[in-house]
Amino acid sequence: MSGGDNLDFEIRPNPAPVGDADRSALLTNPGFGKIFTDHMVTIRYAEGKGWYEPRVEARAPIPMDPAAAVLHYAQEIFEGLKAYTLPDGGVAMFRPDANATRFAQSAQRMAMPSLPVDTFIESLHQMIKIDRSWIPPSEDGSLYLRPFAYASEVFLGVRPAMEYLYLVIASPAGAYFSGGVKPVTVWVTPDYTRAAPGGTGAAKCGGNYAAGLSAQAEAIEHGCDQVVYLDAVERKYIDELGGMNIIFVMDDGSLVTPPLTGTILPGITRDSVLKLAERAGRKVEERPVSIDEWREGARSGRIRETFACGTAAVITPIGTVRSTEGEFTVADGGSGEVTMGLREELTAIQRGRAEDPFGWVHRVL
Ligand code: PLP
Ligand code: COI
Repeated sequence: MSGGDNLDFEIRPNPAPVGDADRSALLTNPGFGKIFTDHMVTIRYAEGKGWYEPRVEARAPIPMDPAAAVLHYAQEIFEGLKAYTLPDGGVAMFRPDANATRFAQSAQRMAMPSLPVDTFIESLHQMIKIDRSWIPPSEDGSLYLRPFAYASEVFLGVRPAMEYLYLVIASPAGAYFSGGVKPVTVWVTPDYTRAAPGGTGAAKCGGNYAAGLSAQAEAIEHGCDQVVYLDAVERKYIDELGGMNIIFVMDDGSLVTPPLTGTILPGITRDSVLKLAERAGRKVEERPVSIDEWREGARSGRIRETFACGTAAVITPIGTVRSTEGEFTVADGGSGEVTMGLREELTAIQRGRAEDPFGWVHRVL
């Protein structure tokens, strides 16, 4: 079975799944990334053989040789997307094809073999089918799917590995920020940058997040929820947040967001919001926004609202911006009307409560 073929998954159900009562208890307040379902998907890869042994099996620790290449040189990529319960009781994912494409692009940047789009999507179907009972019943609940792949070859030379393991795990999720949907405070880091031109900023690779942990810790020390990065060249223009893109709502109702020049992650939520806004007749501009423009715009009222967007964070208003130069609020620091309207519009489509004009909702069950 090589890449491109439709792989036949071997299903080995977990012989000791979590019981109904325990699962229900876990699902009442899942938070984000703390609990996991009963199964995982694994697919192996070897140079010359392609992708093989696709399996659905009990979620369990993975044996790893201490010389596995990923432990030394961080050849690893991941994705994040959600599955939702539909009003008719079915289950759907949101734009899994976009995640599949980005996963392939991340693989290419990290010199890894790409998993065929069909296999990526089928692996998610398998996870949802076997663990659908783990979707939280609450209104804002979803099943967060985490596909990832890493270099498993036992070798210490620095070159692309010849063996990889692809996995999917799933985690029932509620709100990403512990306060639920309320404005967050962000810290503009003076010390760290996330991605330089030519670097890995547009790839969803683990190394980007490892490199961002000190910046995020700095944000937390300053009482903030998330870090905001400025561009690495001029230290002037806003790139994105640690795990979310950023969008500004201007006083004429238009949306402005930093362009995809290779230093930020091309977010699927970002893309979806821009398409919905354009369809509703809003002007959308992808252009650099400096920290001075943000501060000055918030002061003058030219920038009315600012929000963070991403799969985990959905759409979250940014209320307060803190930096070494002091602090400012966007408008009154509350949740803006346009932000909350877009959030409602997007989540209604994702959960099958509204028409899906772009065919984004991918029904699984
Ligand atoms: N930027 C970064 C650094 C991220 O980690 C994420 C989350 O995946 C995003 C942006 C938003 O991307 P998406 O909307 O595809 O989840
Ligand atoms: C996601 O939104 O899927 C991410 O990967 C972001 C991460 C901070 C959880």
